[in-house]
Amino acid sequence: MEKFLEEAEAAIRTGVVGNVIVACSGGLDSTIVAIIANRAIGNHSIAVFIDTGFIRAGEKEKTESIFKKFGLRYRIIDASSSFINGLKGVTDPERKRKIIGKLFIDEFDRIAKEIPAESLLQGTIAPDWIESGGGVRDVIKSHHNVGGLPDNMKLKLVEPLRDLYKDEVREIARFLGLEFSKQPFPGPGLAVRILGEITPERIAIIKRVTEIVENEVESKLKGNLPWQYFAVLTPVRTTGVHGDKRSFGETIAIRMFETSDAMSGTFSKPPWDFLDELSTRITNSVTQVNRVVYDITNKPPATIEWE
Ligand code: XMP
Repeated sequence: MEKFLEEAEAAIRTGVVGNVIVACSGGLDSTIVAIIANRAIGNHSIAVFIDTGFIRAGEKEKTESIFKKFGLRYRIIDASSSFINGLKGVTDPERKRKIIGKLFIDEFDRIAKEIPAESLLQGTIAPDWIESGGGVRDVIKSHHNVGGLPDNMKLKLVEPLRDLYKDEVREIARFLGLEFSKQPFPGPGLAVRILGEITPERIAIIKRVTEIVENEVESKLKGNLPWQYFAVLTPVRTTGVHGDKRSFGETIAIRMFETSDAMSGTFSKPPWDFLDELSTRITNSVTQVNRVVYDITNKPPATIEWE
């Protein structure tokens, strides 16, 4: 670990010029990069967290407290209206990911001018670029921080974790004394968990259901947490019954997953009683949802996220 950190710090010192922006999603990978950058170049690195409007409840506050705990120089930017407007009417997952990648870079370019900064550090890890077509394989999905980046980026890009896998990143976090969130969360956020039209109402639905799923799993499956657990708002509406009236509501899919490296894995098999309670909690709390399904697909053939 010490050797890896020494090398990563040296790579940052030699790889960057002037001030550096660290693109922080609030996730483990980018938070580690921000901490390493602070060790390497101190106040020349500025951690930047962008509120895209697709973050989870409490995420901004949690990220800020970590920045403070590690004494990082940071900025928190509210760009939610440009992300939500930019995705209006977009349903194709790859287009969505490219637009998100471009909006992130536009924001970072703007902030870089203000600071001013010339380099951008990202927490890209191996599965991100492998699945984005960087290896010998086909593009599986354009991870927002790789395939979503425009070709004419003005900032110099440095990615100190790009050869690591998730389990290795977790080891570094432990070594640095960084308490990491219980599960990974994709950089494009809830935008890739809303299939079909993205509207303010549907964003509110996935935020609320995500909160319920995380709370239920973390309180009831404590000690046996799945590797990842989340909800997807599907584009399918179905018939239901609410009181004695017909409803035609949204369908939520629950995904709970086991893997060590995110490259392949199997769906979790939680107790039926747990799924029963979870489904009832969701439909009782979020009236627009009248059906909950459980995803029983491994990776491959499916990816972990639905988009
Ligand atoms: P998939 O869906 O490709 O996901 O099987 C593998 C892991 O990566 C996360 N994921 C992302 N993380 N940017 C990220 O930082 C992305 O664009 C992205 N897409 C998926 C996913 O949540 C899972 O843990």
